[in-house]
Amino acid sequence: MWGKSPAMIVHTRSPFNAEPRGSALARNEVTPVDIFYCRNHGPVPEIPVHAWRLEVDGLVTSPLSLSLPALQSRFDIHTVIATLQCAGNRRSGFNEIRAIVDEDLWGSGAISTAEWSGVRLADVLAVAGAGRDDDVHVAFTGPDVSPLAVPAQQFGGSIPLAKAMSGEVLLAWEMNGQALPRIHGGPVRVVVPGYIGARSVKWVNAVTVQKGPSQNYFQSVAYRVLPADSDLHTAGPLAGRSLSSVALNCDILVPADGTEVAAGPLEIRGYALAGEGAGVARVEVSLDQGNSWRQAELAAARSPWAWRHWSLTVEPEPGPLTVTARAWDTTGATQPESAEVLWNPRGYANNSWARVHVAVTHPGTAALK
Ligand code: MTE
Repeated sequence: MWGKSPAMIVHTRSPFNAEPRGSALARNEVTPVDIFYCRNHGPVPEIPVHAWRLEVDGLVTSPLSLSLPALQSRFDIHTVIATLQCAGNRRSGFNEIRAIVDEDLWGSGAISTAEWSGVRLADVLAVAGAGRDDDVHVAFTGPDVSPLAVPAQQFGGSIPLAKAMSGEVLLAWEMNGQALPRIHGGPVRVVVPGYIGARSVKWVNAVTVQKGPSQNYFQSVAYRVLPADSDLHTAGPLAGRSLSSVALNCDILVPADGTEVAAGPLEIRGYALAGEGAGVARVEVSLDQGNSWRQAELAAARSPWAWRHWSLTVEPEPGPLTVTARAWDTTGATQPESAEVLWNPRGYANNSWARVHVAVTHPGTAALK
């Protein structure tokens, strides 16, 4: 389906929501398109390239209406390696504490990294003459109407003007050197590195410069961290905290939780992603529930906006084993220890220490199974 690997874990077929297994994600720092996670809120639109247009309007001196060839010829082309992470990544960890209702229970794989090419949103906004008053935001709208919204509406969201004018935010038509696949927003999507995936609006057809954030359902109601005791049925728009930049996070991809591993050298692998304005300084792994830590080996940073893969080889004794991992960033901050204090009714932004539980079997036992 959608050119994706049959090994993907499919949460829902319609809308199509799927994540790769940890072992697949751990294989490449730039995620192959066929295993890049997919997050949709409605039917995937089909927009032929010749029919696609981008309207740039609102608080601008010169509104624009751009075709793809116009976008490609009028502005310089830039490439950014950036990780996209859904705000619901690692939600399954919250669900173990208290049930999260009506949301997909994403594991560690609602996150992937690609090489995106397109034009800088900043360059387009400069030609349009975007206003620079206080509290100006740049709103994006896609054509897909989501029945999950109340009332049903097109998918949208916004980012502050300052972020929109930063060089890393792209209107992208290429992913890993290929035309952007339809399932990932082709012909053109927004890519907002450092922000929750929801702001990287796919099939974008309108960019509106406006006072205040977007009032779209997916900005004003969903993708907000509500207090733990909120009632989802009575919490109105603008309740809780709107999500924008992502916090420092890391997770263990290999070994998979709940598996058996043979005694002997065990390679532990994962990813770490720093929040905006910081880098990953180190990743630590504990085999004794956080009493002692060893530093993992960090792969080189591919870009300021990309995750870093890490690995550590250990030799655990046979028996039950909990592997814990946490990242530190360049400001000296680390991740919260427990998901309990972070639990929120929609299950967003779980960046607690990563933990997997495995059974280390006696030499020879695993091979007999
Ligand atoms: N854009 C539109 N138009 N419709 C959507 O449903 N989902 C958002 C974002 N952009 C969405 C969208 C969310 S929540 C995420 S995490 C990312 O797209 C996922 O991008 P991907 O499917 O290319 O991985």
